[in-house]
Amino acid sequence: MCGIVGYIGGGNVKKVLLDGLKELEYRGYDSAGLAVLQGGRISSFKAVGKLVNLVNKTASFEPNGFAAGIAHTRWATHGKPTEINAHPHQGEHSFVVHNGIIENYAALKDDLIKKGARFISQTDTEAIVHLYEFFLRKEKDAKAAFGRTVEAIEGAYAILLIDENLPNMIFFAKKGSPLQIGRAQDATFFASSDAPLIGLCEEAIYLNDGCWGWANEEENRIFEGAVAVEYAPKPLPATQNSAQKEGFRFFMEKEIYEQTRVIGDTLMGRIENDAVLLDELPEGFLEGVETLRLCACGTSYHAALAASYIFERTAKIETRCEIASEFRYRDPVLKSNELFIAISQSGETADTLEALKKAKLARQKTLAVCNVDNSSIVREADAAILTRAGIEKGVASTKAFATQVMALWLLALRIGKAAMGADVYKREINAIRRVPAALAVRSERHEQIRRLSRRYLHGHGFFFIGRDLFYPLALEGALKLKEISYLHAEGYPAGEMKHGPIALADDKLFTIALMPGTMLYDKMRSNVEELIARDSTLLVISPRRFDAADDFLPIDERDHPLIEFYEMMIAIQLLALEIAVRLGNDVDMPRNLAKSVTVE
Ligand code: AGP
Repeated sequence: MCGIVGYIGGGNVKKVLLDGLKELEYRGYDSAGLAVLQGGRISSFKAVGKLVNLVNKTASFEPNGFAAGIAHTRWATHGKPTEINAHPHQGEHSFVVHNGIIENYAALKDDLIKKGARFISQTDTEAIVHLYEFFLRKEKDAKAAFGRTVEAIEGAYAILLIDENLPNMIFFAKKGSPLQIGRAQDATFFASSDAPLIGLCEEAIYLNDGCWGWANEEENRIFEGAVAVEYAPKPLPATQNSAQKEGFRFFMEKEIYEQTRVIGDTLMGRIENDAVLLDELPEGFLEGVETLRLCACGTSYHAALAASYIFERTAKIETRCEIASEFRYRDPVLKSNELFIAISQSGETADTLEALKKAKLARQKTLAVCNVDNSSIVREADAAILTRAGIEKGVASTKAFATQVMALWLLALRIGKAAMGADVYKREINAIRRVPAALAVRSERHEQIRRLSRRYLHGHGFFFIGRDLFYPLALEGALKLKEISYLHAEGYPAGEMKHGPIALADDKLFTIALMPGTMLYDKMRSNVEELIARDSTLLVISPRRFDAADDFLPIDERDHPLIEFYEMMIAIQLLALEIAVRLGNDVDMPRNLAKSVTVE
């Protein structure tokens, strides 16, 4: 998720911009840049990778006195994470930073190139600055030109633009991506979230969609269409940390709620004209691949296991799953026609990295599915599919899991398109398109989980049970609960309960049963009834009412198992969260755990 900072004032503009970008690092990025207008001249700097690279590039740049500046951290969606694609983007005399997606950029770009504009980046953003300069040549008035630019672009955006010929002025526009304005010490501050403003301003104006305007030394003018508007400022959160949680109690809670949005980032540019594109895979990369071996740890292993059902059922390709710490010391038979896929949120997990190296030593083709570009695992693999979940601060992984499963589902369609046939392919893409909506947390369901969680605080343990695709989800639900509640829980294949574990059944054994309507419902029902008959305490998650259970969490009737999978995933994540909250645990930083296990 990109970040934006802007400033007009007589203070240290470079410090304000760089400090602001620092406060936005938590959103994830792969490049950064800034541009400062002072004395009728714009100085611009851009750098790939971490923010420190931009700090080093601007080390000798020391603007002083009144200035206007804009800055940006970029999370690549259109165009690779390169310096040319980093923001700000420039025209002949103006510079722009932008969050969001300009949906009609291709048509705008073609038209502007015909009119003589010279594009140098692969991004949608660059069209904004050339469009502004085009309208300026026609309108001869910058404010009118910017207004027409905003009218002409479609999609989601938060924009800051400066023009060399307009000293100490910043144009802004907002639609679908957040943008706030703060005023203090005779200066104006802009940011795409609260964090960069805290400590500089007491309050901020939160722009509505469709707003645009300009700020200079004397005034901030805001318009909705052609109508000038005024907004009452609101108080800012007290600390950066609370700001970064954006109103949620924990980062984990925020990350559960943002899954509906970040899955859209995972999909961005990867489904076009009803076909899956994974242009990060080199030409011919999948040729000769006859089997897959997925390898990971923890939650990432659960994503791999879930994906293995998709690969075999839908893509018809033989697939193995490996726990990395086991794989490393086994003597597996590794063939050259097998694609080894390392799945990792951090890209730094030692076991997964070493397993990947083992596969490479065996001369296997390797692919990383990872959330952190330029991480060790991404660099080690022959190719990488980035999950684009943004930085995941909660140690207990949530959005990373959701986006890993999605990235692997896309890969299954990419690999198995011919094997599955046109109808199945179309059905799968149609289902994928409905996942973002299915991931939206319903407040009434969250409240129901919060209420019933008080009944699950003790007992001698939990079973999470499921079948097929829902068995890996049961494993994930058990891991989430263990990690943050410190209560014992295990995920189990529902059909296996009668082969021993049912001996534990009594009223203190809590069983969470995942009962999808789209597969094996009757089989699950008989497993659940066996447990109820022995007085186990049952929480059933299903689209079909199940009155015999002690607790019932509804999900919607669906026509595809993976949409049920994602809806149930939300429920098990929230259940773990609310139980941990009641137990008073540190949800974001559970005891004994690290976000990335870089040791054996
Ligand atoms: C997940 O909630 C845990 N924090 C842990 O199991 C994690 O998934 C595992 O350590 C793998 O990490 P990775 O995805 O960064 O490789």
